[in-house]
Amino acid sequence: MTNQRTLSIIKPDAVKKGVIGQILARFEAKGLKVAAIKKVYLNAQTAGEFYAEHKERPFFGELVDFMVSGPCYPLVLEGPNAIMANRELMGATNPTKAEAGTIRGDFAMPCTDLSANAVHGSDSEESANREISFFFSASELA
Ligand code: CMP
Repeated sequence: MTNQRTLSIIKPDAVKKGVIGQILARFEAKGLKVAAIKKVYLNAQTAGEFYAEHKERPFFGELVDFMVSGPCYPLVLEGPNAIMANRELMGATNPTKAEAGTIRGDFAMPCTDLSANAVHGSDSEESANREISFFFSASELA
């Protein structure tokens, strides 16, 4: 097992529902430590930069609008195979396809907007490094 760090974001829909604590408990129950966390108000520029890889996708504008609709909580998870462990915990991107017991299956339903899927999670080591440094400085991770 490789010790890894990954970035998660508790998105505005989950913050509005008041389930931050329940989501953090899922991470900790799986053996992932919260190495850093903060409250962030993204704006159109920062949300667009974070999701730049989706710039040409038809849902980009809606995704940015959603991410600026309220505060979110980016956090760094650390632990064995953290990237894959977090993706398993999150469930499918589309909450209607996420299994019960996953974060999206439990906290993003009913779902009418794919952007409102409770959490984001890095999908590779390369993304994790980029996404962690997007939100956190070295001193915040020490
Ligand atoms: P996330 O893991 O934050 O990464 C990109 C986000 O785009 C994704 O979760 C969804 O919330 C959002 N999104 C909106 N529409 C779509 C779509 N049609 N396909 C994939 N992702 C989408």
